[in-house]
Amino acid sequence: MKDEKVAEILNNEVLRQTEGLELIPSENYVSKDVLTALGSVLTNKYAEGYPGRRYYGGQQNTDAIERLAIERAKQLFGADHANVQPHSGAAANEAVYSAWLKPGDTVLAMDLSHGGHLTHGAAVTRSAQLYRFVRYKMKDPTTGEIDYDELRRIAHAEQPKIILAGFSAYPRQLDYARFAEIGREVGALLMADIAHIAGLIAGGVADNPFKYGFHVMTSTTHKTLRGPRGGLILSRGIVGNPLVKPPVALEHIPTLIDRAVFPGMQGGPHMHTIAAKAVAFGEALQPEFTDYARAVVANAQALAQELLQRGFTLIGGGTDNHLLLIDMVASRDVDGKTAERALDAIGLTVNANSVPDDPRPQFAPSGIRLGTPAITTRGMQPKDMAMVAGWIDTAITVRDDTEAQRQLAQEVQAVARQLKAIA
Ligand SMILES: Cc1ncc(COP(=O)(O)O)c(C=O)c1O
Repeated sequence: MKDEKVAEILNNEVLRQTEGLELIPSENYVSKDVLTALGSVLTNKYAEGYPGRRYYGGQQNTDAIERLAIERAKQLFGADHANVQPHSGAAANEAVYSAWLKPGDTVLAMDLSHGGHLTHGAAVTRSAQLYRFVRYKMKDPTTGEIDYDELRRIAHAEQPKIILAGFSAYPRQLDYARFAEIGREVGALLMADIAHIAGLIAGGVADNPFKYGFHVMTSTTHKTLRGPRGGLILSRGIVGNPLVKPPVALEHIPTLIDRAVFPGMQGGPHMHTIAAKAVAFGEALQPEFTDYARAVVANAQALAQELLQRGFTLIGGGTDNHLLLIDMVASRDVDGKTAERALDAIGLTVNANSVPDDPRPQFAPSGIRLGTPAITTRGMQPKDMAMVAGWIDTAITVRDDTEAQRQLAQEVQAVARQLKAIA
């Protein structure tokens, strides 16, 4: 690269990613092929519209790549329809809301401090200004079980147009059959935001909400799915669905979604990213991806066991998926931001996170969230998790001791350098 300033920053980032352990559960390392597609000439091409229906000429290759991505996404998740154009998970969620809702309509979604995502109606988002969000929660944060009786009560009282199952900081499996039953009782569209667990669903180690009658799934493509940064919308079971009082016929959902994405929200699709999505979906369709998904969960569960043995308090009592949420105040009497910095200092990257009904402010919440998708890609195994838990524990203890931190950082770096190289 001729631009030395940019090259230097990129090289520094390669070093950072290589020499540290990435424990943020929403991050991963993509393959060389995904990077190649992302850096391809498709970034040069405008392709507003959809395959066969574009606003510009010269679309023989863009149509082919988008059709391939769509077909692979449908196969991967058992969908009838896929829109691969959303630039991000946030855009995918907004598009579904605008496809299905009128301003003022109600959405029943997971409480944010209980694991829901910002795009599920945080007050600071545009969606929250347009639509009314009501909340369900865990019954008991020590087990993580959702309070399905309360969910049903709220659904009947509030008559939501959408019931949204999905999370960014919830370590257990959701009972999609219960969601579907309640959704059918009140005639709500059943939407699952699988941004975090898409790779686990694709790899067959987490339930697929479509099996239980969900109508729409949104996702990111860059977390457990190990693709490029981007979004995805899938739908299924539209024709003949027994939904009782839809505001619009369900069979129109694919059209409504396509229109909501383009021209509703976005302009030209990022065709280089769509090519990279096609590569990632192709990789996730391979049998090895099932091994990867299994290993992600096995590592997360081994890490949970090690942390529990060291007296850490885990929200939900453990994990069924790829992520863990530690209550650091309850565990070690430090806030999540202090813990995040202490771990950063030794090369372990995590993020501070609220715990259910957190009394602490959002910029210094009580917990940290961590996960295993990225370290699993680099080849770490359950037997390595005792070492990781030990580092986490010691990093908190020595957080004010610069020399001890330096030594720990060297240990982490030495181990990280031996792991599988990033692409
Ligand atoms: C559940 C969930 N939905 C949506 C998003 C938003 O995705 P993006 O950051 O690509 O907009 C995230 C990202 O963290 C998420 O966890």
